Amino acid sequence: MPSYNIALNFEDGITRFIECKDNEKVLDAAYRNKINLPMDCSDGVCGTCKCRAESGAYDLGNDFIEDALTPDEAASGLVLTCQMRPSSDCVLAVPTTSLACKTRQMKFAATVTSITQHHDAAIVLELKVDASASTLVFLPGQYVNIDVPATGQSRSYSFSSKPGENTLAFLIKMIPGGVMSGWLEKARPGDRLDLAGPFGSFYLRDVKRPLLMLAGGTGLAPFLSMLEVLARAESREHVHLVYGVTRDRDLVLVDEVASFASRLPNFTFTTVVADPNSDHPRKGWVTQHIPKEALHGGQVDAYLCGPPQMVDAVRTYFDGADFKPASFHYEKFTANVTGKVAA
Ligand code: FES
Repeated sequence: MPSYNIALNFEDGITRFIECKDNEKVLDAAYRNKINLPMDCSDGVCGTCKCRAESGAYDLGNDFIEDALTPDEAASGLVLTCQMRPSSDCVLAVPTTSLACKTRQMKFAATVTSITQHHDAAIVLELKVDASASTLVFLPGQYVNIDVPATGQSRSYSFSSKPGENTLAFLIKMIPGGVMSGWLEKARPGDRLDLAGPFGSFYLRDVKRPLLMLAGGTGLAPFLSMLEVLARAESREHVHLVYGVTRDRDLVLVDEVASFASRLPNFTFTTVVADPNSDHPRKGWVTQHIPKEALHGGQVDAYLCGPPQMVDAVRTYFDGADFKPASFHYEKFTANVTGKVAA
């Protein structure tokens, strides 16, 4: 009998995944997984259990009254979890915190399996999650917090690997004097790390139209995860990635990006270097190198992961553009700050 992975995204940025059996209501599946989603009547009358279905296929049920869920609300993607029966994996936005639902972030331990340095720019860190943790699920684009051993501090990194496997990969910017950078310089395969997550509302939504991906530096990481998911799904959607960096040597994993061109028939990408002294054929900012055709007359979903200045620049660019993307999702990161900001 099939079962479905349901991602519950709480308002505090925490995501929990539950398994929902075929023909099972989401509210029942959540309770079985010890997550107390908001509810009152559990009968389709009060509307307390209303959530937004951001992706997936489901049956709304027909045992609820209009006071609980109007046809307009249903048409806009709202659902009653006490009635909804998924028929595919789904993502639900829950309009309250994980704490209010008596759940919390998942914690798990992992072992370093490889550390690959790319000049002084970045490190690819690969980890194997302990077998005791169930297969790690996250939405492509999300991140975890990694405790930096013996410092009492943690740092946030987007997964660059695909969800659903126990081998994880991260692309980490090297920062002189940085807490994680300092640890990574001495780290060896076999070292242990504690992680918490997944987190974040920056993730790949249902792909309904062409995608424009804008990556700033190690902001490339979540796009590698998204591209892997698209490649495995044999997507034929048009996807264009603009990958911008500060210096030539910050341009890492270009071969990995290029490899997607052979797996995704409609994938193209552009690299850009900001340094005016670079020999790179495209210099300047990402916004100067977005091909007009990659905007598809506005029929495009845009995703951006980069530093705050890049996010601001791209928002300004879209505000003044002839064609505004149908949706724009972004994540800001700063090198020395634990948290990320997504929208
Ligand atoms: Fe009352 Fe779902 S709990 S409508």
